[in-house]
Amino acid sequence: MAIRNLRYDGDEILRKRSREIEVIDDKIKELAEDMMETMHKWDGLGLAGPQVGVLKRIIVIDLYEDDMQFTLINPVIIKEKGVQNVEEGCLSFPNKFGKVERPKEVVVEALDLDGKKVKLKAKDLLAQALCHEIDHLNGILFTDKVEPGTLEVVKPKEEKK
Ligand code: NI
Repeated sequence: MAIRNLRYDGDEILRKRSREIEVIDDKIKELAEDMMETMHKWDGLGLAGPQVGVLKRIIVIDLYEDDMQFTLINPVIIKEKGVQNVEEGCLSFPNKFGKVERPKEVVVEALDLDGKKVKLKAKDLLAQALCHEIDHLNGILFTDKVEPGTLEVVKPKEEKK
């Protein structure tokens, strides 16, 4: 496993549409492991392929609770229900946070790393994370959806006034 370099706001790759994964080979499995490790290093809840410079439809999510770690290939939202207004951030925008509107519940279909079809019913934070990461696969960033006036810029910890 290895930590991959993150891509940040302003990098064109974050605006591109990722391609479907047709074969889940060793390279994809290694990518999935690396993405999980990279996400953990930066204490993220989710990470999508383009954020490590790979335009493939793969996302990882970890809510740091039991059974809340997922690697999903070619995820698609097939159902949405309700609305939640939530605070959101992104590893590609290390110091920015804002309020966005997300569905309260979603159903997502995807493949797991064994190529098996999985159907995930999610609500609250998991629904939010799934929507955020799937947006990345379509070149959509949370700042596109942020409620006007709610984007906060937090100073990096190293910096002092
Ligand atoms: Ni993000």
